[in-house]
Amino acid sequence: MLIQLAQGVIRISRGKDGGELTLSVQEQFGQIDIYVFDQILRGNIAPGMRVLDAGCGYGRNLVHLLREGCEVFALDEDAEGVEHIRKLSASLMTGLPAKNFQVGPVERMPFPNEFADVVICSAVLHFARDEEHFRAMLSELWRVLRPGGMLFCRLGSRIGMDFERVGGNRFIVGDGAEWFLVDEEMLLDLTEELNAVLVDPLKTTIVQDLRCMTTWVLRKRRSWSSLQLPQDPIVLCTQVMHRA
Ligand SMILES: C[S@@+](CC[C@H](N)C(=O)[O-])C[C@H]1O[C@@H](n2cnc3c(N)ncnc32)[C@H](O)[C@@H]1O
Repeated sequence: MLIQLAQGVIRISRGKDGGELTLSVQEQFGQIDIYVFDQILRGNIAPGMRVLDAGCGYGRNLVHLLREGCEVFALDEDAEGVEHIRKLSASLMTGLPAKNFQVGPVERMPFPNEFADVVICSAVLHFARDEEHFRAMLSELWRVLRPGGMLFCRLGSRIGMDFERVGGNRFIVGDGAEWFLVDEEMLLDLTEELNAVLVDPLKTTIVQDLRCMTTWVLRKRRSWSSLQLPQDPIVLCTQVMHRA
């Protein structure tokens, strides 16, 4: 497949018999989050991967992934958003079953353990009621991610701006809404607690006088890489064979 981009138009040639398709950039990518787009450009989200969007809303981050043959799953507590994605998937003739798109809470997802290559959770975690709720959501996001897989979170933070504290980790952000906000120390402590690898340093966008949105991207270690490496290679070999 060859993709050419010129003057706001994308031409996709799908080989000799597949013909050529011309789409606007917006038709191809939708209103995708720029940091999700960044992960796509870097090959961390790619065709063929099983991608779960937890708290998917109306699926702005899924248009390109559905078009390009990712095995997409999505969940949101808002039934209208989920229905919209079912229809989008059907209109793009992805062949994905409607049950891939579920209504429900992120903190209790109906998906099996370690089933997704990539989990996206964009602009959701700051709606946590309190720390317990935040941790319940995070623990579910981590549960469904396979070893070696990537968790992409974009969430409200206090990195770069001060906000009025309401109580606990809840603050009033610029438009008067009450959000659960993390800070750098908390994200780094959680990364360590999960024994995760930071894919990128934390990146924060400050939306002037309104809010700070931080991108927190983690990779789940494969079980072998979290083994304590023994001095003796024969011991290592025995351990690996034992696990196989
Ligand atoms: C600001 S929208 C973001 C939607 C989408 N992820 C995006 O980036 O465009 C937040 C979404 O999170 C969903 N949401 C918030 N808390 C949730 C929870 N605990 N379980 C499931 N969905 C939740 C809302 O219904 C809403 O669709």
